[in-house]
Parts: sequence; structure tokens; C-alpha cells
Amino acid sequence: MLTRIEKQTEGGTSAPLIDPFGRAISYLRVSVTDRCDFRCFYCMSEHMSFLPKQDLLTLEELDRLCSAFVARGVKKLRLTGGEPLVRRDIMVLFRSLSRHLDTGALEELTVTTNGSQLARFAKDLVACGVKRINVSLDTLDPQKFHAITRWGDLTKVLSGIDAAQAAGLAVKINAVALKGENEDEIPALMEWAHGRGMDLSLIEVMPLGEVGTERVDQYLPLSLVRARLASRYALEDIDYRTGGPARYVRVKETGGRLGFITPLTHNFCEGCNRVRVTCTGTLFMCLGQEDAADLRAPLRASESDTLLQAAIDEAIARKPKGHDFVIDRRTKQPAVSRHMSMTGG
Ligand code: GTP
Ligand code: 5AD
Ligand code: SF4
Repeated sequence: MLTRIEKQTEGGTSAPLIDPFGRAISYLRVSVTDRCDFRCFYCMSEHMSFLPKQDLLTLEELDRLCSAFVARGVKKLRLTGGEPLVRRDIMVLFRSLSRHLDTGALEELTVTTNGSQLARFAKDLVACGVKRINVSLDTLDPQKFHAITRWGDLTKVLSGIDAAQAAGLAVKINAVALKGENEDEIPALMEWAHGRGMDLSLIEVMPLGEVGTERVDQYLPLSLVRARLASRYALEDIDYRTGGPARYVRVKETGGRLGFITPLTHNFCEGCNRVRVTCTGTLFMCLGQEDAADLRAPLRASESDTLLQAAIDEAIARKPKGHDFVIDRRTKQPAVSRHMSMTGG
């Protein structure tokens, strides 16, 4: 019996996904739930309404969707949220997707998490072939952590990170650089991460969704952060790449890697290799644009993937050149109306 991927190859739909700008799509980010057990103030408003459960793709449907992309040359799959590890039975999806690692079709299966559930799931992730995970953590100060995440518990996240490292996972810490919140703490966060053998990536805040505060009051340009760090540390540009948007330096004093994700100060769209799909099967071709394609209807319309593959081709053919993020005093509307929790970044 042929597997679904073999059937597609037979049907001639295994051509790689190339967008109008010649960029090959090799990285799929899958938001498996829009829900989260935190309410980070730059990500969500305090009172969010979430999707009704019946609108979600089932885990089997998510698997089929991911597999359709793997058949078209996607080599890296990242599950995101919301918080991906709060979706019920999520390990079933990891487990079934790991078959693509076994066949060599997929190079990396990974996750971006807030860390709250890691103590429970770290070992299972390793068993599913996950090698490297990204944990979002903006501060090591319990009070600030509570202020930033509104609902989060730092102790739980730190034990999650301990469990992940003990299970053998490589951990990268993601921190959004936030004006007046964690800006003074960045060197300490970096020394802590590097001291534990973890990379740290700093991220510029992006204007996604109404969050009840002005983005300009949150936004801290990483050009400024880098200049400040460079006055204390020797930063050496390095070629290390993960397939994500970060550009890395080696910090001489700590020996660790520090990444900069700079959608605002240094646009990286030219090298974009990724698209994201939500838990309702909506494909967003760019994080910073509203345009989207519905993949749920073609997925559900038939058992074969012909319609689904046609819808994917159509969507990739209109992947835009890049985002139009602006953060300044004059711009009151967010660049896109949806929140980050819908697409998981
Ligand atoms: P690595 O595999 O470790 O490189 O991870 P990654 O940076 O690809 O993924 P992660 O989930 O850790 O994302 C870190 C940050 O980068 C998040 O805030 C994402 O929103 C942001 N990011 C990822 N891809 C894009 C993109 O295409 N455009 C923009 N503007 N931001 C992105
Ligand atoms: N701008 C930049 N990063 C954000 N994140 C959530 N919302 C935003 C935003 N508006 C980050 C999270 C996590 C990653 C997936 O995206 O902190 O690290
Ligand atoms: Fe949840 Fe991540 Fe958004 Fe924070 S940034 S509210 S942890 S989805």
C-alpha cells in the first residue's frame, strides 16, 4: 500500500514550493491552538475570546496538513500556539509527525513554548525526535514575569527548562526586548542563558493585534540594544543559521550565541523560507500581512490531497514580498489585526 506522500509523488504534485520571488518554502510553523495559559501583555489583550473548539482541525487533520507540506519539500516543522503544549493530546501529533523524521523527509520537528508544561512533556518530546526547543522567557524577575505574562508562574517555567535540559533537549531562550520592562536585564538574562549552555534570541516587538497599550511604548530597537551590549561585551558576527530569522553573534566573554530578530530595524523578508498555518487550517503566507488562504475546505472536501495541494500552490503563488510593520507615534492601527497567538509568530 502506498503512503499518502508516495501517492502525491506519483500524482506529480511533489514539486517544491517556490514563491513568486524565487524563495523556496522549507519551513512550516503550525499553530495548534490559539489558547494559552499566559496573557503576555504584548501578545494578547487581557480579555481574549478564543475559537470555539468545534472550529479546530482535529489532530489527524493537522497531521494530514503538515504531511502535505512535507511532501512538497518542507524540512522544518515547528508547532506553536498560543501555547502548543496546552492542546489536549498534543503528543499524539508529535508522535505521528515523527515518522517523517524517520524517513528523512523532515529534518527538524520542534516547538516554541512558554515552558509552563515542559516538566510534564520534556521526555515525551525527546521520544518523538525533538532535539531543540525554543522557550519564551522575557525576565528572570518573578514580579516582572508576573507583570509581563499576567498569569504566568516563573518557578514553573524554570523547572520546565530544567526538565528539558535534563531530558537532553537543546534549549534556546526567546526574549522580546521591551522598553522599560526588561531592557536593563538583558545582560543578566544573556549571562544566565549562556551560563546554562543555552542560546538567547532577542526579538523586536511587532504590531500585531490591539493589546490595549501603544506599541511605541513597548518597542525597543535591537540596534540600540546591540550597541549597548557592544560597549560591555565583544560581539563577533557568526554564520550560524537555524532556518529562522535570527542573525547571531558569538559573545566572547560568555562563549555563548546571541541572536537578533529584527523585523523593524533590519528587514529579513528577502530570505523568507516560511509560511504558517493556524489551528483552523488557515494559511498565512506572511506574518505581517492580512492575506490568508483557507486550507480546511479543500482538506475536508476529499480524501485525496489533490484539492489541498492545488490550494497550497495557489496560496504560495501570492506570498507577498514582506511585511509593512511600522511602529511610531503617528501609526495607531496595528499592521495586522490578528494577535500573535493566532499564528504563533
Ligand atoms: P529557530 O529555529 O530557533 O531559528 O526559531 P525561529 O526564530 O524560527 O522561531 P521562534 O518560534 O523561536 O520565533 C522567534 C521569533 O521570530 C518570534 O517572535 C516570531 O514571531 C519571529 N519570527 C519567526 N518567523 C518570522 C517571520 O517570518 N517574520 C517575522 N517578522 N518574525 C518572525
Ligand atoms: N512581537 C514580537 N514577538 C512576540 N511574541 C508574541 N507576541 C509578540 C509580538 N507582538 C513572541 C513570544 C514568543 C514568540 C513566538 O513570539 O514571546 O517568543
Ligand atoms: Fe501565550 Fe506566548 Fe502569547 Fe505569552 S506570547 S500570551 S506565552 S502565546
